[in-house]
Amino acid sequence: MAIIYHEEKKLFEIRTERSSYLFGINGNGTIQHLYWGEPIAAAESVDLLKSRSHSSFDAAVDREAEEYGGWGGANYAEPGLKASFADGVRDLQLQAIGHTIEGEEALALHLKDAHYDLRVDVRYKVVGRHDLIERRVAIRNGEAEPVRIEQAMAALWSIGGLPDYRLTHVTGRWAGEHQLRSNLLSEGKKVLESRRGFTGPHANPWFAIDDGGASETAGRVWFGALAWSGNWKLVFERTTFGGVRVAGGVNDFDGAFSLAPGETYESPVFVGGFATGGFGQMSRALHQYEREEILPARGPRKVLYNSWEATEFAVNVRDQLALAEKAAQIGVERFVVDDGWFGERHSDRAGLGDWRVNAEKFPNGLEELIAAVKGLGMEFGLWVEPESVNPDSDLFRAHPDWIYRFPTRRSTPLRNQYLLNLGKPEVKHFVLDFMTELLSKHEISFIKWDLNRTVTEPGDSGNADTTHSVWNRHVANLYEIWAELRRRFPHVAFETCAGGGARIDLGILRYADQAWISDNTDARDRLTIQEGFTYAYSPSAMMCWVTEAPNGFNGRSLPLSYRFHSAMMGGLGIGANIGKWSEKEMAEAARYVSLYKEIRHLVTDGDQYRLASLRDSNIAAYQYVGRDGDEAVVFAFLQSEHFGGSERRLRLRGLDPEAVYEVRGDDGSEAWVRHGSTLMHLGLPLALRGDYASWLLRLRRIGESAKEA
Ligand code: GLA
Repeated sequence: MAIIYHEEKKLFEIRTERSSYLFGINGNGTIQHLYWGEPIAAAESVDLLKSRSHSSFDAAVDREAEEYGGWGGANYAEPGLKASFADGVRDLQLQAIGHTIEGEEALALHLKDAHYDLRVDVRYKVVGRHDLIERRVAIRNGEAEPVRIEQAMAALWSIGGLPDYRLTHVTGRWAGEHQLRSNLLSEGKKVLESRRGFTGPHANPWFAIDDGGASETAGRVWFGALAWSGNWKLVFERTTFGGVRVAGGVNDFDGAFSLAPGETYESPVFVGGFATGGFGQMSRALHQYEREEILPARGPRKVLYNSWEATEFAVNVRDQLALAEKAAQIGVERFVVDDGWFGERHSDRAGLGDWRVNAEKFPNGLEELIAAVKGLGMEFGLWVEPESVNPDSDLFRAHPDWIYRFPTRRSTPLRNQYLLNLGKPEVKHFVLDFMTELLSKHEISFIKWDLNRTVTEPGDSGNADTTHSVWNRHVANLYEIWAELRRRFPHVAFETCAGGGARIDLGILRYADQAWISDNTDARDRLTIQEGFTYAYSPSAMMCWVTEAPNGFNGRSLPLSYRFHSAMMGGLGIGANIGKWSEKEMAEAARYVSLYKEIRHLVTDGDQYRLASLRDSNIAAYQYVGRDGDEAVVFAFLQSEHFGGSERRLRLRGLDPEAVYEVRGDDGSEAWVRHGSTLMHLGLPLALRGDYASWLLRLRRIGESAKEA
């Protein structure tokens, strides 16, 4: 891992374990991207370093691969920065004025406009052991007048020289998030974005580009993920000259802002990486990076129980106590009370914003329940939705001006609620204060922080402050609140939730230990959602609940074993009405919870291999290999049996070919003893029959060769 500046060639080289990333300053003064891919001898790339023009219609072709550039001159590629100066000039000419290299990890390119004192630091941090590069920019206005920033991308990535460019990303909707899509990019622009005020369920800010031929196990993949939880935009622009540029950052849609004299704008981080081992290697690099650099959580997730699907808003101390007793019997470690415990919250029509314990539901306060939960050996957790308010609430009656609104418009209610303008200092204090009181007064170890609507009418009650984009202030203050709460209450774990998985990104995951990735709890639908999630995000953050059969979302009845297997592939939760479960179901659940506790270190800290996907077969299978390679667990799911055909075999991955493993299924069948090579190349017969069958296999290394075994 290294950062080297080859002075005589004006060439910058960033080396990670598996990649070279090269750019240089060409004759035009453009900082031209040269190469990103397998390690090469950097100096030999300089023949690419030249300014390039094709015609008067295509004057500055080299700027299509600019490391970071502004809109100005003959540059028509998607710009990093678009700005207008106080005198009406809207043209940028960013020139390199120097650079700083700090150790092996950090590089900053210093750019300045040719005339105005507008400076851009383009920053790189090499996360070499994960083969990743974190990029961001800092933009400083040294002028005496404000500068209007129309677009400020965190990074531009250039990918060149592929015959085809295939983009893989996710799309989705509420209760159907993280659906994978792959499309070839033809010339023109493809935009993935959110305009709804937060990350959103419709797309997620990460991408993967390959040459159309990469698979789960092989092939070159360029990828990136943006750490921002507000409006975001990723632009994929394929030019007629054969390259693709990925520009990503905070969305410029309704996002222009003024940069005051002396002020600096810091963009979010946009991390990028390169893998030669296909999408699986890409995901494992991101998972490890998230576990080691991003997520505050360490170690396995606690098994939780959540009462939402069992009781919805009808929460009271008696029923919750009964559920808690049942939860403790099956080995739950964290009991979470969801929506409905506060104010006049009997439905989604009232009470949101009134964060005092409802005295009818909890006559002796929350303490009675908390003491009982702790007495049963569990932690206590609570649901909150601090950014929202019902019009029918004391909070709204007292502060109608705290919501986003335009004075001449009626605010749009969604789920009967408005959104608080968190950018206002008084709203920020209100949220911080009530959360502090809640967490100081009660022994709460876990907070599920929800958000259940999109942003509309993003105005400031008549205060026409355009200094900062309203959208950006919300996110900045949200991050500050979470950071402060984590400082004040280091023992409390936090979960990000937004009507399920609508606020999951590398920005919020710096503050959240885990994520509720979808309200859809059907174990089959979840396989697809969970698979899409793991393309960019670590299974250690992926919360999955076992719920009822038939499932409330789609009426499908799945065996309890299938529901557990599906939910054991991330952080396990139980969200069923266990008060109604039979003794047999309770005993089976207890067995699975205890099995989960034995294997969860593999799920949350191990390397994940996606062996088979229901996207292209009748089988889904996922393997998790412990970091020391001594243990692994495999989950396999059969969609539906077709009689006849060849025997199905499951080929495993990530094992030591020379080592011998004992393989044991959770169906009581006899164990196998096999070499890693056999398990990976010949595979195991898949003993699944019927519809919606599932299987869990545990592997344990028992020797280095057949003789020793
Ligand atoms: C959202 C969450 C659910 C639940 C409800 C409560 O939809 O995603 O898990 O907490 O809100 O109102």
